This record gives sequence, C-alpha cells and structure tokens, in this order.
Amino acid sequence: VHKIIIDTDPGIDDAMALHHAFADERLDVVGLTTVFGNVPVKTATRNAIHLTDLAGLKIPVAEGAATPMTITPNPHADFVHGVEGFGDYPPQVPSREKDTRSAAEFLCEVTKANPGEITICAVGPLTNLALALEHDPEIAKNAKKVVIMGGAVEAPGNVTPFAEANIWNDPHAAQVVFDADWDVTLVGLDVTHSVSCNMDDFRDVTKHSPDIGKFLEQVSEYYIKFYTENVGVDGCYLHDPAAVIAITDPEFFEVKEAPLNTILEGDEVGNTIADPAKNGRPVKICLEVNDQGVKDTFLSTLKKADARRDA
Ligand code: BDR
Ligand code: CA
Repeated sequence: VHKIIIDTDPGIDDAMALHHAFADERLDVVGLTTVFGNVPVKTATRNAIHLTDLAGLKIPVAEGAATPMTITPNPHADFVHGVEGFGDYPPQVPSREKDTRSAAEFLCEVTKANPGEITICAVGPLTNLALALEHDPEIAKNAKKVVIMGGAVEAPGNVTPFAEANIWNDPHAAQVVFDADWDVTLVGLDVTHSVSCNMDDFRDVTKHSPDIGKFLEQVSEYYIKFYTENVGVDGCYLHDPAAVIAITDPEFFEVKEAPLNTILEGDEVGNTIADPAKNGRPVKICLEVNDQGVKDTFLSTLKKADARRDA
C-alpha cells in the first residue's frame, strides 16, 4: 500500500483524482494539502474537505499558498471548473476545520515522521512543494517520491500554445521542484491528452456506486461541456487521475529521463523543456501511455467508491 499526500486545487478533475485515490485499496491517503489554481485557495480547501466528507474520511486537510511565488497571479479557471470549483454543483459547508498547519509544514512534518514512505502527488500549481523545500530542505530526502500532474514537454500546452496550466500558474515553483534532489515523475499533457472519458462512462459508474458516482456525474457535466464546446472532444481529459494512477500502475507509462527547465517569463512562460545537458537529477517524464489501461483502472476503481466508503 502506497502512503500518499495529495496536493490539490479542486477543481473537477481533482475531485475525480481524489475519489479515485480514496477508492483504491492500494492507496492510503494520509492527508490533503490545498493550493490556489483552478479556484482561490480557500475555495480549494472547502472543496477538499467536502470531498473527504463524501468519502466518509476524516483525514487532515492543510491549506497552502494563495498566490504564486514570484509572478502576478493568473485568473482562476472559472470557465473550466466553475466559480466554485465544481461546475454548477452548489458550494457546501464543510463538516470540519482545516488542519492548523500550513501545507508546507504539513508536508515536511508528515514526511519526516514517515521517512522514505510518503509519495507526494501534486495535481495543482507546485507552490506548496517549493515552499516545503524552502521550509525544510530535508523533505527531499524524507519523501519517497513526487508524482506531478503538470507540464507539456513534447506536446503543446493547454493554457497557451506552450504552457500547461499547473506550471504556468507558478513556473518559479516548478523550477525549484524540478531542481531538488528527489525522485520526480512528470505526468503532463504528453500523456494526459490521450486519456479521456465521457458522460456515459460516469453514468455507468453511478450504476455501481450511486452516491459518489452521482456527485462525479453532476460535476463532470460542466467540465465535459467545456471540452465539447472548446476543445472538440466528446468527453474530458483525466489529467489529475492519471497522476494518481502513475503511482499504483507505473507500467502504464513510458518515461524518458532528463533534467527539466521551465521558462519563467515572456511568451513561452510555463513551458517545460527537457535539457539532457543540464547538470542535476533527471526527472522521469512520461511520454507514452496505455490509455485504455488508465481509463479502465479509473472507472473500475470508482465503481467501488461507495463500497469502500462503507467498509
Ligand atoms: C491541470 O490544470 C488544472 O486545471 C487541472 O485540475 C489539472 O490539474 C491540467 O492542465
Ligand atoms: Ca488540478
């Protein structure tokens, strides 16, 4: 069983990734940390607690960064995820308070207490991870590994022709995380743009898992509408779930190892470029994916979500 902390900005595909992780018995989610991105950080925290409520979990949720380290904040992704983060799903009152620690403190403390055991799965801008490295550089040694949804190394971007949203929202943080001496896997648009599912897939999940399925069906409608109208796909990409699945099923992904550079300003800001000549620890960049394997794992796991909640 992999012990993981998910750093997240929920967000609709974040909600999918979290419910997937909660439902997979091969994963033990020991906490969540939140970051600005799809929505303001306070909204992300409220939504993250609501997701734990739906799954019947009381794991800690520690709030993190409200803004990027250096750049002027970009607008939130209302048109993709809705102002409240879950499309037209109305905002919910969380059942409990957030953790008293900041996300950076939480990440450092929990990895220190479980050296070599915790995988950090980051599916939002990388600000909290960079702040954690600043707060206690030993986290690079204490964490087992880091799996990131972010970047577009060979593929084009999604927010600009060059940049993927999570990296674009805090390129300086991304560079700090890529340069640290820890085991980093990048699950970017190079692979996530091959993995999608549609409303029929979610309706099928609901047949097996009526409560969590219904929630995902409701929130996905807005997200899928965005993709259908603006990207021209019948369905939506499974960005954040793909990063979670890369932890449990790494054989679905083919990686190339190289150090990474992030463009920090100008037209190409947020672009991630492999630089084999650069000194430093290489990043495992996912470039090929068994898309059917990822999709099947995602849907079959979610079908067990209500049962796992009730176990
Ligand atoms: C990433 O950006 C966010 O909008 C999604 O939640 C995902 O983490 C995709 O580029
Ligand atoms: Ca996200």
